[in-house]
Amino acid sequence: MKIKMTVNNQVKIFECEPSDYLLDTLRNNNYVSVRRGCDTTNCGVCTVLMDGKPVPSCSVLTVQAEGKQITTVEGIQEEAEKIGNYFGEEGADQCGYCNPSLALTVYAMKKELVNPTIKEVKKYLVGNLCRCTGYISQERAIMKYLGDKS
Ligand code: FES
Ligand code: FES
Repeated sequence: MKIKMTVNNQVKIFECEPSDYLLDTLRNNNYVSVRRGCDTTNCGVCTVLMDGKPVPSCSVLTVQAEGKQITTVEGIQEEAEKIGNYFGEEGADQCGYCNPSLALTVYAMKKELVNPTIKEVKKYLVGNLCRCTGYISQERAIMKYLGDKS
């Protein structure tokens, strides 16, 4: 079957099976910044934005993305670079495996929450696991990014 969606502002038509997950469809079409971790909706590294909201692409059927706007980290390059700089400054940039999904989640959070408290930030980030940083340095970097109005 053919499924039409917009990926990073480009209309795409993907050939897939009804049982295919968005993670596999994207990766099979060279969107390899979308990463596979647990494959069970627990780690968040497969996160993409669907109509601006973070979703775990390992648990979204490709057919559910029909007609939707999908954003991978390539679609927010400038903001991702800014987020990455804050991560670097705060020592939160380690193996980098969780960086694309976290950048997308933080980007969506900045659009959605107005002056969030650290408690709200932590709640928004539930489901985004990182095996390297211990989270504290990430939280420092994220708070700085959220406060950056440039
Ligand atoms: S790979 Fe999708 S949540 Fe872990
Ligand atoms: S930096 Fe390694 S998993 Fe997050």
